[in-house]
Amino acid sequence: MGERKLDRSLSIRTVGIREWGFGEVHYNRYEATPYTALDKLFERYRLDKSDSVVDFGCGRGRVAFYIHNRFHVPVTGIEANDKTYEEALSNIETYRLRAKHIRAPIEFKYGLAEHYEIQPEENKFYFFNPFSIKIFRQVVNNILESVKENPRTVDLIIYYPTAQYKQFLKKDTPFQLINKVKIPGTIDRREKFLIYRLRQEDIELEIG
Ligand SMILES: C[S@@+](CC[C@H](N)C(=O)[O-])C[C@H]1O[C@@H](n2cnc3c(N)ncnc32)[C@H](O)[C@@H]1O
Repeated sequence: MGERKLDRSLSIRTVGIREWGFGEVHYNRYEATPYTALDKLFERYRLDKSDSVVDFGCGRGRVAFYIHNRFHVPVTGIEANDKTYEEALSNIETYRLRAKHIRAPIEFKYGLAEHYEIQPEENKFYFFNPFSIKIFRQVVNNILESVKENPRTVDLIIYYPTAQYKQFLKKDTPFQLINKVKIPGTIDRREKFLIYRLRQEDIELEIG
């Protein structure tokens, strides 16, 4: 099924691209994760009722709607582009008419990912190449601060991982790579998911 058709099945509009203005070097453009990639990811990686997901740089919300609709778990999307954020809000109105039976909350927040205050119940963090390594470091450090305060196992789900993201996670953080999900038929080697995990036991050991 095409991307537009899949959007229609969720009563949302997420197809397309939005560039930031000339000169923006840290914030990347809007483009949604392909539905085929999300299907592949969730063949191999499951969410359960106790999970709570954040999409950093959620765009028009495709990943948030997909996860909410499939797993019925709370999802929060953070978006810094005002027009894109408005589009996510329009999508929530139409989506909610269809998904009234799903009790879990779904919400979008306008603002910078690096300023978002991570909530103690949030444990799955999604990134599709939203920003530079400088911003990614800040967001991951915020996640690490949050798990120190409220120890819990957390995952980073990274689509289209850059060499800089991978190097940073490997060298400068306690996250361990636990899973790699390739997308069959793609030529670009970055079109894959990497899942990194930090286990509660390891945090407790580290903070003594
Ligand atoms: C590649 S899109 C991914 C959209 C969505 N996560 C998905 O996978 O379908 C990246 C998004 O991150 C947003 N973004 C870039 N920098 C950001 C920041 N510092 N804080 C929040 N959002 C940001 C962009 O405006 C864009 O919508």
